[in-house]
Amino acid sequence: MKIISSKTELLGISKAEMLRGKSIGFVPTMGYLHKGHQSLMERARRENDVVIASVYVNPTQFAPNEDLDAYPRDSKADIKLMEAVGVDYAFFPSDEEMYDENHMTYVEPSGKALDILCAKSRPTHFRGVDTIVLKLFHLARPTRAYFGMKDAQQLWVLKSMVRDLDLDVEIVPCPIVREEDGLAMSSRNKYLSETGRIEALVLSKALKRAEELIALGEKEVDVIYKEMREIIGSASTSVVDYIEFVDFNTLQRVEEVRDQVLIALAVKIGNTRLIDNFLYLEK
Ligand code: PAJ
Repeated sequence: MKIISSKTELLGISKAEMLRGKSIGFVPTMGYLHKGHQSLMERARRENDVVIASVYVNPTQFAPNEDLDAYPRDSKADIKLMEAVGVDYAFFPSDEEMYDENHMTYVEPSGKALDILCAKSRPTHFRGVDTIVLKLFHLARPTRAYFGMKDAQQLWVLKSMVRDLDLDVEIVPCPIVREEDGLAMSSRNKYLSETGRIEALVLSKALKRAEELIALGEKEVDVIYKEMREIIGSASTSVVDYIEFVDFNTLQRVEEVRDQVLIALAVKIGNTRLIDNFLYLEK
């Protein structure tokens, strides 16, 4: 595996691979890699000739009051994991490399789907995500790019950017990878205390209960919401940011569970904000 920190070097490589007719699978990450990231890289490995993965904690997607400085980092372990998966090129740029001191251009997603879920709680977040992902796409020139359903709104926003800006890349959604007890894997799980780690299970438990109720024939969002709220409330340090039921085509609220509904939640356990979701697809 070749480790790269220069943009021009990465661009030279991706152009050369493209000219050789190779397909490129790309997995952008912020590092502190876990099995969720690994599953994306493994899939990229299976489906492409060349795999590029990036590790970059992108400052423009963090608001000033958020955890940019505290965000966990471990490049040694990241390199080991990427090497084991068979990534060909690992891109580890610095802030100076990614953002010119005169940087002034951003991709600004807007519309109704950006007034809800994480975009509502983190109003500048997806502008940062779109901007960095577009820059990374230009450098890695991927045939396919892999994103986790863990960040369902991110996936939705990125798919919209690809459509709106006519980008020539296929966005591949990948399922959520969980710990054995149900907690969705996340680099931020590291922030949890021992008791927080146990309390954090209320997120996946609430979603499981929603899934069960739907399987039993319940369609009313109000009814399902109530039970979810109770489960989450059973964790003493939990504070709900949102529990939303949205149509996954439009990201707009629904009152009944039909067709394709994303049940998404963001909950603070102590100081740690966690997100999780379940996508219901009518058979
Ligand atoms: P990061 O949080 O490191 O996640 C990188 C990718 O891994 C994202 O596509 C995310 O959805 C996926 N992922 C994280 N946890 C997962 C899990 N438990 N199961 C499956 N996939 C999982 O998302 C970002 O970084 C950044 O916003 C980024 C897209 C890199 C732009 O900076």
